Amino acid sequence: MRFLEIKHLAAEHLPSAVELDRLCFGGLWAIEGYRRELDSPNSDLLGLWTWETEDCESGQNRAGTGAPPLQIRPMLIGVGCLWAILEEAHIIMLAIHPSFQRQGLGQALLWALLKSAHDRQLERSTLEVRDSNLAAVSLYKKLGFKEAGRRKRYYEDTGEDALVMWRSGLEKPEFQRYLAALKVQMCDRLYEKKWHLAIDIFEL
Ligand SMILES: CC(C)(COP(=O)(O)OP(=O)(O)OC[C@H]1O[C@@H](n2cnc3c(N)ncnc32)[C@H](O)[C@@H]1OP(=O)(O)O)[C@@H](O)C(=O)NCCC(=O)NCCS
Repeated sequence: MRFLEIKHLAAEHLPSAVELDRLCFGGLWAIEGYRRELDSPNSDLLGLWTWETEDCESGQNRAGTGAPPLQIRPMLIGVGCLWAILEEAHIIMLAIHPSFQRQGLGQALLWALLKSAHDRQLERSTLEVRDSNLAAVSLYKKLGFKEAGRRKRYYEDTGEDALVMWRSGLEKPEFQRYLAALKVQMCDRLYEKKWHLAIDIFEL
């Protein structure tokens, strides 16, 4: 069985976060950057971990099968961060380990950030994303973000524009129902891919 857990990062997780950041963004934040987020009461810095257990029911034994070794110790494979500014949730980071992308995990982590924003009674969420980042733009649109404008030549490395996206209505009761329905859908889909999601601190 492959398990997933989403929870807040703690100081002992920061070296793994920096390593994941290097893999996903080529080194966006150093450890001090992550520590600042941990120390800020206005930030939610979330991690997504995975680990495996032997499939007892089927009595499956991997020895001699050529299957990769079990990931028994939890491994950090995703990180997401938001800043609560007035009534807005600014999503400033979202990343999934390259080997674990396209399985619904980015969506699960974005779900958790939006849930966190709802719990903080924030009303809107916003973010900036590279124009060319089709995977991220498509994920944000899937969860209800709309393009609201662009910042010209925002990214210094490539001179690319940033799309500015917004999602409103986070404080409304229907948003809570939306999150609950999405969670069921998400868990079913992850289960089909043999992932078991424990969103323990984000129970609805
Ligand atoms: C963006 C990112 C977080 C998506 O994570 P992921 O786990 O691969 O995404 P999911 O599998 O949950 O995909 C959810 C939806 O996103 C969209 N999506 C994700 N990857 C996509 C891709 N390569 N092409 C097109 N759409 C994609 C789809 O709409 C998908 O829904 P579907 O599975 O029903 O088609 C991941 O690609 C990543 O970490 N990229 C590097 C870091 C980054 O660019 N972060 C965003 C900075 S703003």
